[in-house]
Amino acid sequence: MSVTIGDIVQDQENNKVLSIKDLEVDFFTARGRARAVRGLNLEVSRGEILGIVGESGSGKSVTALAIMDLLPPGTGRIMSGSIIFDRNDLAPIYSSKYRVAGRIGREKLRIRRMAVRGVEKKLAEQKGRISMIFQDPLSSLDPLYKIDSQLIESILYNNEEFMIGKSLDKNDILGRMSEFTNLLKEKSTEELMDWINQNYGDGGFYKEVFFISNMSISESEKKIKIRRALACTKLLTPAETRKLKAKLPDATGRFFKPNNRRRLPIQGIRDPIVREAMLFSLELLEFVGMPNPENVLTSYPHELSGGMKQRVMVALAVANSPDILIADEPTTALDVTTQYQVLYLLKSINRKLKTTVIFITHDLGVMAAVADRIAVMYAGRIVEIGPARHFFDDPLHPYTSGLLKSVPQYDERVRKLYNIPGQVPDIRKLPSGCAFHPRCERVMDICKESDPVDENVNERRVQCWLYSDGVKHGSR
Ligand SMILES: Nc1ncnc2c1ncn2[C@@H]1O[C@H](COP(=O)(O)OP(=O)(O)OP(=O)(O)O)[C@@H](O)[C@H]1O
Ligand code: SF4
Ligand SMILES: [Mg+2]
Repeated sequence: MSVTIGDIVQDQENNKVLSIKDLEVDFFTARGRARAVRGLNLEVSRGEILGIVGESGSGKSVTALAIMDLLPPGTGRIMSGSIIFDRNDLAPIYSSKYRVAGRIGREKLRIRRMAVRGVEKKLAEQKGRISMIFQDPLSSLDPLYKIDSQLIESILYNNEEFMIGKSLDKNDILGRMSEFTNLLKEKSTEELMDWINQNYGDGGFYKEVFFISNMSISESEKKIKIRRALACTKLLTPAETRKLKAKLPDATGRFFKPNNRRRLPIQGIRDPIVREAMLFSLELLEFVGMPNPENVLTSYPHELSGGMKQRVMVALAVANSPDILIADEPTTALDVTTQYQVLYLLKSINRKLKTTVIFITHDLGVMAAVADRIAVMYAGRIVEIGPARHFFDDPLHPYTSGLLKSVPQYDERVRKLYNIPGQVPDIRKLPSGCAFHPRCERVMDICKESDPVDENVNERRVQCWLYSDGVKHGSR
């Protein structure tokens, strides 16, 4: 289904930050084609926490990876559908990569690449605006690099196009550049240095420019560095700039005054933006409640506990103030106390930074604690979605009821724990009709023959033949 301008405008009016329509994701494996996501429809409102639940293999992570453009290259592919984010449909942008890949001639490849250049530009604009916390923090952090390098890399990766592009006013750069060029013409180096010291004191943009203009690099590289330095000065509020200036090098490039008691780990870093990125990393670790952040910055991932690693992942994910944060089972490997702290952190990121959070988990207890709305996934589809308050008291879909019944209650002694009969189907050989029918206690003839479609029931949407006329039939 193609997306029209009307759809996009409506999404904007309805305050939808992300709209996924009819998304299909397939994996091409040696054992055949696997349909991991099948016609998924999902809308996420700005500022909400949307929970996604479902058994293992239901397609939660694949959906997240498709949104992030992180499907494994070569095997995973968006086949159709749309992912509308910020007035752009990302799905065709992501899929255009498949067209330029493959064994085709060099010239053809070059022409095709040129054709998608506009698309790549759009992609660069999105970079950093959706970020993800992965299921396993240990395998998501690089064991060979210290935390500082990993945080700085992430901050700077988005800096060049995203942070500078977002935070800079082109006229401002040009204005400052020409002012500085005129000063260079009029004054000798010593006079210029005195002038900068008198007017700007320690640190400051002009001093960075002075260092950069004396570097033996090309003019274009100098311009990039100057823009980065300017971006740094614009990233901070005046109060933060004052605080930072106290920590920046003095005119001779010496770092930190001898009486500075707090040893910040930016000693010896000359590149202004790397220095700022390091300070920003420290602030991020403080923000995510990391104990002893200075030490953590200079540690390797294996030196941190599971909870600390997960906090680093959260810091990495919020580093560029994303519009959407996708957390894929961020608390699975943690003890309950740390789990609570990470959940609280995600909630506070949602409330304080107004970040929309998509929270994926198996754990319904965790879901109850954080989500505003809950989507239930089964075999690559959303079978039920609605406000969290209805989810626990009045589930609509038989699969949702089954999931809730499977949660052991600590205040009840039962002889046998309930589980949904059968297994999640093999996505290479899905059953006919409703994919849940071989396991459903309320299966009807029609369920075996035809796929149910989405039905709206009050504020909720459900995909089940029991609601085909929009009215809830019978009791659960
Ligand atoms: N790289 C891959 N190659 C082939 N199939 C894959 C690949 N990644 C995922 N799949 C398949 O896609 C389906 C959905 O997987 P996904 O990882 O999204 O499940 P999930 O809902 O996140 O499960 P869990 O709760 O265990 O993390 C599964 O059947 C899985 O086998
Ligand atoms: S459509 Fe039929 S088989 Fe599927 S969940 Fe509903 S009642 Fe059960
Ligand atoms: Mg998963």
